[in-house]
Amino acid sequence: MSPTFYVDKIPVYGDVILAPMMGFSDLPYRSLCRELGSAISYTEFARAEGLIHNMKRVSEKLEYIEEERPIAFQIYTHDVDYMVKAALNIQPLRPDFIDINMGCPTKTIANSGAGAGMMRTPIKVARLFKRLVKELDVPVTAKIRMGWDDCINYKLISRIVEEAGASLIAIHGRTREGGRERDANWDSIAETKQLVNIPVIGNGDVKTVADIAKMKKHTGCDAVMIGRAAIGNPWIFSGKDRNEVTFEEVQALMSKHLDANIAFYGEKLGINLFRKHVVQYLSPLPTTRRYRRDLLTRENKEEFLVLLDQIYENLV
Ligand SMILES: Cc1cc2nc3c(=O)[nH]c(=O)nc-3n(C[C@H](O)[C@H](O)[C@H](O)COP(=O)(O)O)c2cc1C
Repeated sequence: MSPTFYVDKIPVYGDVILAPMMGFSDLPYRSLCRELGSAISYTEFARAEGLIHNMKRVSEKLEYIEEERPIAFQIYTHDVDYMVKAALNIQPLRPDFIDINMGCPTKTIANSGAGAGMMRTPIKVARLFKRLVKELDVPVTAKIRMGWDDCINYKLISRIVEEAGASLIAIHGRTREGGRERDANWDSIAETKQLVNIPVIGNGDVKTVADIAKMKKHTGCDAVMIGRAAIGNPWIFSGKDRNEVTFEEVQALMSKHLDANIAFYGEKLGINLFRKHVVQYLSPLPTTRRYRRDLLTRENKEEFLVLLDQIYENLV
């Protein structure tokens, strides 16, 4: 099979990718999605300062398994020196590439000049990418938005990062304030693809398998990145919409996911962090409120699976 595209010299097989998502795209969930067809694993973003001063605590976010390759570590900060230092600190962990978050809209982050806030300072972006490309041995990539509210400068930023030597751009077709209620602007993805010669990943409001083809056709992007619609539906990476997935498949995958969470985090935290996924896995099913509440209070794996069996018996 020939690669779909390359990130510098790294071959990527496939054109649908799980988006980095704080609180969701951890090792257990990423590797499930990767197994089902997601073509790249992106870690949740990690703050550069944490990777310099408190590597031990933050580095759990950067754990991965070999099967996830290509693996991208995503980092953010407002400061060029910190970003370069953090990237050099994590490079020995052997990511396939390092991704710079220029899309986070959260006020505390963006207002400090990091995340989406970085798009307001194009000269700093140029300095940052030039230094990263010069000092790192691994490719550097960018995840951007359309811009900062009334300053829509994704074309400028895309050109800057490409010229500085970046190897890929993922673009979420929204401005910082382009609230989730408004549809993502796929034209901005198409324009970015037209502008640059490095691969472009399109992102924003892909909800179904049909949307994947629609975005590809509309924008010509090299791959499609899926965030919210992949929570509770990792099967989207295998070309299945949620309504095509049987309860047996849901049950089997939930059990696998729970096992993976417990193996990675230990039983208590693993079950705790699994709860938000359960709600999403079961959301399309006609389960009663009572069952959902019970699922959220089970403390160990056996109790959890017994309850799932009960739900199943009530469905058939
Ligand atoms: C819960 C949540 C956490 C997110 N965390 C990150 C993150 O750590 N890094 C990042 O680049 N984007 C993050 N995003 C943005 C997504 O990667 C993606 O760009 C956005 O959700 C739009 O894609 P979608 O319409 O498919 O959801 C997050 C989004 C959500 C919903």
